[in-house]
Amino acid sequence: MRRAKISVIGAGNVGATCAHWAASKELGDIVLLDIPEREGVAKGKALDLMQCAPIERFDSAVIGTSDYKDIANSDVVVITAGLPRKPGMSRDDLITTNVKIVRSVSEQVAKNAPGAVVIVVSNPLDAMVYTAWKTTGFPTHRILGQAGCLDVARFRCFLAMELGCSVEDIQALLLGGHGDDMVPLPRFTSVHGIPISMLLSDEVVNKCMQRAKVGGGEIVQLMGTSAYYAPASGTIQMVEAIIKDKNRILPCAAYCEDAYGVAKGQKGAGYFVGVPCVIGSNGMEKIIEVDLVGDERKLMDESISHVKDLVGAVRKIFPDLA
Ligand code: NAI
Ligand code: 2OP
Repeated sequence: MRRAKISVIGAGNVGATCAHWAASKELGDIVLLDIPEREGVAKGKALDLMQCAPIERFDSAVIGTSDYKDIANSDVVVITAGLPRKPGMSRDDLITTNVKIVRSVSEQVAKNAPGAVVIVVSNPLDAMVYTAWKTTGFPTHRILGQAGCLDVARFRCFLAMELGCSVEDIQALLLGGHGDDMVPLPRFTSVHGIPISMLLSDEVVNKCMQRAKVGGGEIVQLMGTSAYYAPASGTIQMVEAIIKDKNRILPCAAYCEDAYGVAKGQKGAGYFVGVPCVIGSNGMEKIIEVDLVGDERKLMDESISHVKDLVGAVRKIFPDLA
């Protein structure tokens, strides 16, 4: 049986940690690629990871490179190339630099791994997924962005901390863009099937939602750079669903037109927005639409509007991506 192949572009904090989680779960062979000036870092981290194999007992091969020929025949390509946030920066502040990086990476992905499912992680996420889509020309089901898996994990983690129960028992749903205006949905949050409203006050649930919304910023303030363990873990949750064709329902940035009223009736004019998706070997197999009521609809519309503004900024700076 052929092993799956996962290529991770950008061998920095998030990229190397993706390689770590993927190898430890033995999801396939892994290529860690960075720019030529950082090829040594990519090769060194790959070798270091390979040397864990006898202890952690995985047979995944991990190679470091700066040569895009090495990503040929990848099943999944994860794009983490780009600058991370520093204290005081928003994700949106990264736009000009990271569009240039993600565009050049995407050109190479289209050329060297034309059959891959692409997962974009670089920020500002919603604009970078759009950039990868426009540049690769891949069908929309093979372009996804990672944000929701991380954001919902943060929300579940904070709820578990309040409840003193296992995070495993907490189910939650979260929509919208990867920004401080993401939309957690307490109505769809439960603990082993028990609605969260029966276990925690609205005040405590709101506190957890608020902390999840600014969870990235909290870590940037503490570390001076952005988080990577949980972002990489969320990304590999998506990779695993694709490689194992699990049809898992995960919150991902996926291309929406009619779904959630993002660009109703406007063929080809949709946006990538965080929505619950069925994720399998084709990438996004299906979007699951839930009816939103009251404030939920209002918050989702605001979040969609922010995603549109971000993409508008990309189109303004880079008219060829319009
Ligand atoms: P990092 O600085 O540790 O790593 C970035 C890597 O990208 C560096 O090794 C750099 O050499 C490489 N790179 C730059 N230009 C490249 C190019 N043209 N081709 C290949 N590689 C290139 O940054 P970190 O912490 O790994 O973050 C990476 C990105 O992920 C940032 O944009 C960050 O904001 C984003 N991020 C997104 C999250 C999400 O949930 N979507 C969560 C955490 C970070
Ligand atoms: C995070 O949410 C910065 O997007 C990154 O941690």
